[in-house]
Formats: sequence, structure tokens, C-alpha cells
Amino acid sequence: GKVAVLLGGNSAEREVSLNSGSAILNALITNGVDAIAFDPKERELAELKTLGIDRVFIALHGRGGEDGTIQGALEFMGLPYTGSGVLGSALAMDKVRCKQLFVASNLPTAKFTTVKKGESFSIESIINEFGAVMVKPSHEGSSIGMAKASTSEELKSALENAFKFDDEVLLEQWITGTEYTVSMLNNQPLSVIEMKTPRGFYDYEAKYKASTTSYHCPADLSNADTAYLQMIATQAFALVGAKDWGRVDAMRDQSGEFYLLEVNTVPGMTEKSLVPMAAKDSGRDFAQLVLEILDSTL
Ligand code: DAL
Ligand code: MG
Repeated sequence: GKVAVLLGGNSAEREVSLNSGSAILNALITNGVDAIAFDPKERELAELKTLGIDRVFIALHGRGGEDGTIQGALEFMGLPYTGSGVLGSALAMDKVRCKQLFVASNLPTAKFTTVKKGESFSIESIINEFGAVMVKPSHEGSSIGMAKASTSEELKSALENAFKFDDEVLLEQWITGTEYTVSMLNNQPLSVIEMKTPRGFYDYEAKYKASTTSYHCPADLSNADTAYLQMIATQAFALVGAKDWGRVDAMRDQSGEFYLLEVNTVPGMTEKSLVPMAAKDSGRDFAQLVLEILDSTL
């Protein structure tokens, strides 16, 4: 059958998605799959039917593509698609509700509070309670709109910026430590990757532009720590209703405790991205990974 790779879209992560989608499309075509690129920002989704598409590979990141809305539309059209369904996609895109679920299930995650646009709150009391916080728009990806704040002034400007991206903002206890990620394929964890950056945190620059970010795959962790992190990541993935493939991000503080950050249901898929890196460590090249994800729609 004919496959449409959905890419681009309207979200703040459009550029990343164009890169993920082109890499996926290229791998599919090179391997003899009849595939086309389809940007739902530029075309009506209904055209998928007239184009004779019978399966969809979702390479959209962020709102509108990773948050259950496209998934719902495709369900309605009766078109099978890769990855998580409506519920898992919607929950994973919502960092606040994800963390509420982690807490309810006794999965480790950093202490947090939330603020909503238009709601009154005291910047000073947040700083007094948390010291430093990581400010995150609740429904963004790729660290867009995020900043560290350790003073009232920093928090005020970080919130102003975060509210440009979202009506709900997550304030998470700042963790000094290292970021790790667990890629999921066929609902199973792959090798853990450790990301090190000299920047304040693993931000957009460190993710896509800086040459100073270093990746360790497999991560430099003991077997017990690796197994534990893979276990909580797998639990978190299932807990939010995610399925097939994705990526669960976490941090480890200087005392060695792990904290879950979030679940990504359509993680980056450029040839340099993290899931392809973990897949390579398990003996799958980029094309094999792409074909395996596509196969899960059958
Ligand atoms: N949100 C980006 C694409 C990622 O998680 O890889
Ligand atoms: Mg994300």
C-alpha cells in the first residue's frame, strides 16, 4: 500500500518535524516503500483519501501532530497510523497531567507546581519554596519556551516568555545533574543515552545546533541503574497510554536519584536523533528502525 509521511505542521517544532519527516521518507523510499510527504499545514487532511493512502507515518512534533488531534482525525478517516493513539498522545503532550499521573503511581518525578495564564500567584513564594525552578510551557517540545529561574526577576521574565507558548506553565524543582533518555520500540526499552552539555541545560541549541553536546550510548551507568531507569521509563510509557514507539526523558541528580521528566510519543527522527542512536546500539540501522515502526500499523 501507499504510505503518507506527515511532516511539518503548525507547531513551534515545525522545523524539527520537517527534518524528521524527510529522513523517514528517504528511508522508506530507499527501501522500496511507496511513500509520499504530506504537510497538513499546506494540504487538507481529507486529501489523504483521494491520494489513495492506506497507512500514515506520523512525523509531526508538538501540538496538532503529537497531541492526539491528528490521531483522532485519522481514526475518523479509518487510516492506520504509527505510534500512540488519541489518549496516549494527548496525555504525553501535557507535561502537567503526566506528572500528576507519575505522582499518583509513585514514579519518581521532581516536585512541581503549575501556573495558569490570568491566575494570581506569588512569584516570591514560588522562589522561596523551590529555590531554583525549571519553567516549562506544559504542551511544548524541544525545550521551546523553557528557562531556568533562580530569582524573582528571572522567574517573572521566564513566565512571561513561557506564556507566549502556552496558557499553562509547569514550574519544576531545578535538578542539578545529567539528562538521560530511554527510547521505546515495540513497547520495550532500548539502550539508555546520556546527554552532556556545558550549557545550563539540554536546551534547543544543545539539542539541534551546538557541537558541544556529547552523547553516551549506552550511558555510563551501572547495570542496576540502567535496569531501574528502563523499568520506570517503561512504566511511565504504559501509564500515559503511549504505545509502540517513543522516548521517555529523565534526569539524575548528584546524589544518584532519578526523576522522570516526560514522555514523547513522536520523538525526533533525524539521522542524528536519540531514538535512532539507541536503535543503532541494538543493531538496527535507521531504515530498519523506520520499517519496524511502520510495521506496527499492520
Ligand atoms: N520533541 C522532540 C522532537 C523530541 O522529543 O525529540
Ligand atoms: Mg518532549
